[in-house]
Amino acid sequence: MCGIVGYTGPRQAASLLIEGLRRLEYRGYDSAGIAVVNGRGLEVMKAAGKLSALEQQLAGKLPQGTVGIGHTRWATHGAPTTPNAHPHTDQSGDIAVIHNGIIENAGAIRKMLEARGHTFTSETDTEVLVHLVGELYDGSLEEAVAAALRDVDGAYGLAFISEREPGVIVAARKGSPLLVGVGEDEYFIASDASPLLEHTRSVVYLDDGEMAILTPDGYRIRNLETTQIDKPVNQIEWDLATIERGGYSHFMLKEICEQRESVTNTLRGHLLEEEGTSRVTGLNLSDEQLKRIERIVITACGTSWHAGLIGEYMLEEMARIPVEVEYASEFRYRNPVVDERTLVIAISQSGETADTLAAVREAKLRGARTIGLVNVVGSTIAREVDGGIYLHAGPEVGVASTKAFTSQVAALALVSLRIARLRNLSILQGRDFIQHLQALPDKIQQILNRSDEIEQLAERFVRASNALYLGRGVNFPVALEGALKLKEISYIHAEGYPAAEMKHGPIALIDEMMPVVFIAPKDAVYQKILSNMEEVKARGGKVIALVNECDAQVDRLADACIEIPETHELLSPMLTIIPLQLFSYYVAVRRGCNVDQPRNLAKSVTVE
Ligand code: G6P
Repeated sequence: MCGIVGYTGPRQAASLLIEGLRRLEYRGYDSAGIAVVNGRGLEVMKAAGKLSALEQQLAGKLPQGTVGIGHTRWATHGAPTTPNAHPHTDQSGDIAVIHNGIIENAGAIRKMLEARGHTFTSETDTEVLVHLVGELYDGSLEEAVAAALRDVDGAYGLAFISEREPGVIVAARKGSPLLVGVGEDEYFIASDASPLLEHTRSVVYLDDGEMAILTPDGYRIRNLETTQIDKPVNQIEWDLATIERGGYSHFMLKEICEQRESVTNTLRGHLLEEEGTSRVTGLNLSDEQLKRIERIVITACGTSWHAGLIGEYMLEEMARIPVEVEYASEFRYRNPVVDERTLVIAISQSGETADTLAAVREAKLRGARTIGLVNVVGSTIAREVDGGIYLHAGPEVGVASTKAFTSQVAALALVSLRIARLRNLSILQGRDFIQHLQALPDKIQQILNRSDEIEQLAERFVRASNALYLGRGVNFPVALEGALKLKEISYIHAEGYPAAEMKHGPIALIDEMMPVVFIAPKDAVYQKILSNMEEVKARGGKVIALVNECDAQVDRLADACIEIPETHELLSPMLTIIPLQLFSYYVAVRRGCNVDQPRNLAKSVTVE
């Protein structure tokens, strides 16, 4: 969603803010703006479009001042125009705000303020909020913000500055992530750690209902009443190199290519080879508690939901526990059947997705144990679940999720192995599964080493307008994820289906213009999927086959064939997805698309 950064200290704020926004641009890129306080008052500069548009506008005339706030927007209320861009100012023009989230009662407050003579220049809920703060201002920005927030419904991560109180930033959080960066005689506020890493690794995570007041001399945390709160300072482990592109042309390509390492990191320290099981102490569940689980519900959004579907196959097959996978947005409003014997697994790269967070809260209310498979350390979901596994995949910046997916599947394999070994999986089966897991990183690398081959393949399909992805069993979710990757970044319409379902509808679409990607490792249904290929071939469709071996039989049916190393059937998605990620990437690059910032999408969806 939107990116927020603020600075107060001895240095010039504007260039720090622009630099910070560049690091945050993956969160939203419809428009951007900054506000700085200096001796002449409050200066606000903003521009529709990507950050580069704002930079052009500012070229050579950065506003002076040592306190400021910056914002990069992903539009919710109001189109991505310059007037709707943040920061917004109050009626007097003295107070500015940046905001991530939605103020739900903005309509009513706007009416009340209009009746008192306020005029608005944008269609946003955020402008209403800053006008309200201006209306309530009585000598203290901190108190005016606290009073205004007591009156608003909705979600926010926000930061205010005012020319009446130079040096002060007042920030607050409810439902939208925010953290304070603690530097040496300088302080930052940001929606995630990426803009801070260059300056400090020390951060304080705000919780819902908390405000932070920053000055060049220090910071304080309080709630909306008056209670001061002591919070621990955490150290961020990620270093700057992990959030830079290195020599790669896009973050997405870098992140695809990092998967040998990211999967190794997810598995590190969790495998107990001798015992043929996994060590997952972070779940905070005893063996007895794990044995008592009667049902598992996995909840997530987007790519993480696809990983959850693979988890369903693993857990049911290995541990023989019934599993349901539910979109978090549906789960939260569906009166779900969960109780204290249900384990709810929330999967989220960012740990901030609003629907997934709400699903966790709903599950907890109903008495379920919740665990999180989360990448971002210290994120809200990670802090609210009863236990979990950090993915340790490193920061993922590309909007289309890649390395988080394989790490999520690896983490699900760890959970499945643990539960299965407590139930019916033998030690020998456990050891065999571990050996396959340990061999995966090298096999991932073998596929990555052949990316030229996939680039050439992409070249042939660059002009497609539709594509169909078909897989069976544990590779059906891979078909969904492969199709999602292609549509997200290349804007080619793509669908994923269980291969046998093709006959119940999608087959009507097949002609010589339609590429059909078959994900077909040699498993129990391999022969059946070859029959599906025959059916596509007979209708003139173009078959792309992902198989373990491009033998004569496949060769006859397929227009293109990609070989995947063999592995345990349940782990095959961690290999089959790699060429599909690369394929989408190369197709999108060839089509001239902005791979790291696809239109209308955001990396982390912190509103409903
Ligand atoms: C957005 C992103 C997707 C991601 C989904 C869930 O839609 O663009 O890449 O899969 O959110 O995000 P999460 O951080 O919860 O995994």
